[in-house]
Formats: sequence, structure tokens, C-alpha cells
Amino acid sequence: MNEYFRSRFNRQPIEVISGDYYFGSDNDGDNFDKNDVDLWLNGVFKDRWDKAFKVEDDLLSYFFTDVLDVFDENPTPFMEIACGPGMGLTPIILSKYPDIVCLATDACSLLIKSWRQYINHDLKEFNIDLASFSAMDMPIKDNSLDMVTSFIGVSSTRSGEQGKIRALKEIFRVLRKGGCLIAIENEWSDIEAIKNVFQLWGRPMWAGMKEDTTWYEKFEKCGFTVEKTDKTFFRYLNRDDNELGEQADKYGIKIGLKFTLFILRK
Ligand SMILES: C[S@@+](CC[C@H](N)C(=O)[O-])C[C@H]1O[C@@H](n2cnc3c(N)ncnc32)[C@H](O)[C@@H]1O
Repeated sequence: MNEYFRSRFNRQPIEVISGDYYFGSDNDGDNFDKNDVDLWLNGVFKDRWDKAFKVEDDLLSYFFTDVLDVFDENPTPFMEIACGPGMGLTPIILSKYPDIVCLATDACSLLIKSWRQYINHDLKEFNIDLASFSAMDMPIKDNSLDMVTSFIGVSSTRSGEQGKIRALKEIFRVLRKGGCLIAIENEWSDIEAIKNVFQLWGRPMWAGMKEDTTWYEKFEKCGFTVEKTDKTFFRYLNRDDNELGEQADKYGIKIGLKFTLFILRK
């Protein structure tokens, strides 16, 4: 763990493995298993990493220059939350600033262990620290970080509106005054279409799909100043995304998904 991040933790990890900190947060993360690990290490990590800064990835490349503009102004260490199998905005940022120190985090310990294996073999040139903890309960000191990044990270917390608010309050707490959150988050654009699909499917709607407030309202509620929110990307859920995409495709119903880039300040 680089000194920059080591000095910013506020409690001891339960375990340290290969220099990475583990805080016992698996209950909050996704339930990945050995099959996922095989897929990650045999192509998914590499594909996602390479794709993040290639023009053919519509979604990430659409926001590529906006993310880097923030780092051009202030190339600072950053912490990625809920990094997932794509490691969020990290590949984009390191493509231009390979020497920046970063801390990629996710609640799922298996994912973090797999990323360590991959990084030690294939991404040795970068300073990527790893830690496993929940975005809703960060073991990080108050007012200690300059930059936090999230690519569908806050959206991925699995406790509905309250989970998102808890994660945003945590991010706000750990950022120093004037610190920045770059977040690309998503929302469903047509909840009626989703209700229709679940009805035809004969299943109850998944928890947390209907938002109580907009992202803008959530950020403001947690104390952030919204600096930029004018860039969005729209696409329809497809059958390869998840079970809901499969069902929507089966019944010929289109479910829209909107991604928005937010640049936020404490
Ligand atoms: C769909 S991915 C998010 C996208 C990801 N940033 C990427 O680039 O691939 C979902 C990830 O969020 C993680 N996650 C879910 N809830 C979390 C939480 N409360 N804290 C931290 N990570 C969480 C999961 O373990 C999973 O790895």
C-alpha cells in the first residue's frame, strides 16, 4: 500500500493479503464465484481494461475526455469505489496519467484478490493499490482524499435509495473540502415499461428500481455542489445485460437506461 493511502485509513483491516487491505465486507458486494474468476482472468479484465479507452466502447469513450479534463486540471491520487470487473474510470485515468497512485476498492474480496493476481502479472507498470470494503462504510479518515471516482459504483450498492445515500454521505465525509467526485451513474428512463416486463414475467419488481429522488437531488441532499451534469448517454437494455434484458427482449418491450456524468465538489 502506498504511503498516500496507508496514512488515510482510520481502522485496521481484518486481513492484509499481498499488501491489500480486507475489511470483511462480502455481504455488501456481489456474489461472484470461481466461474467468474476464471472468466475475469481469462479475458474479461483484459478486455475491459483495453476497451475503456478505445473508440468502439460507446459508453466509456463517450465520457473519456470529460474525465481526463478534470485530471488535466489536477492530476491527483484517486480512490475508485465499487470498481467491479471493469475497474471503473481507473483505466481511462491511468491511460493518460500512468504514474498517479490510486486505490481501487470493492466490497467483494474475491474480486479484489483476482485483480491483485491480474495486476501483478499484467499491469505492473501502474501504482494500483487495492482494498475490499463497502462504499456504505468506508474505513477512511474524514476530509482526507482529493478525488473519488465511480463508474456505476454508487448505482451498484444493493440497498436501494438508502444505500445510495449512505454511500454518497461516506464519499462526502472522506473528501477534503474542495475535493472532487467524478461519477457516471445510471437510471431507468421508463419505470412503466419495467413494470410491464415484470408483470409479464410473473415476478415482483427488483428492489430499488424505482428511485425516490433524482441523482441531482441525492447529491445535493448529501452536501455536494454539482459542477457539471449536462452530459448523458442513452441506450436500451439488451438481452446480454441481465435477466431483465432477456425478458424485455422476449416480450418486445424496450427498457431505456440513461447514464449521466456528474462532476461534484465538496
Ligand atoms: C456492475 S459493477 C459496477 C461497475 C464497475 N465499476 C465496473 O467498472 O465494472 C458492480 C460492483 O459493485 C460492487 N458493489 C456492490 N455493492 C457494493 C458496496 N456497497 N460497496 C462496494 N462495492 C459494492 C460489486 O461487488 C461489484 O463488483
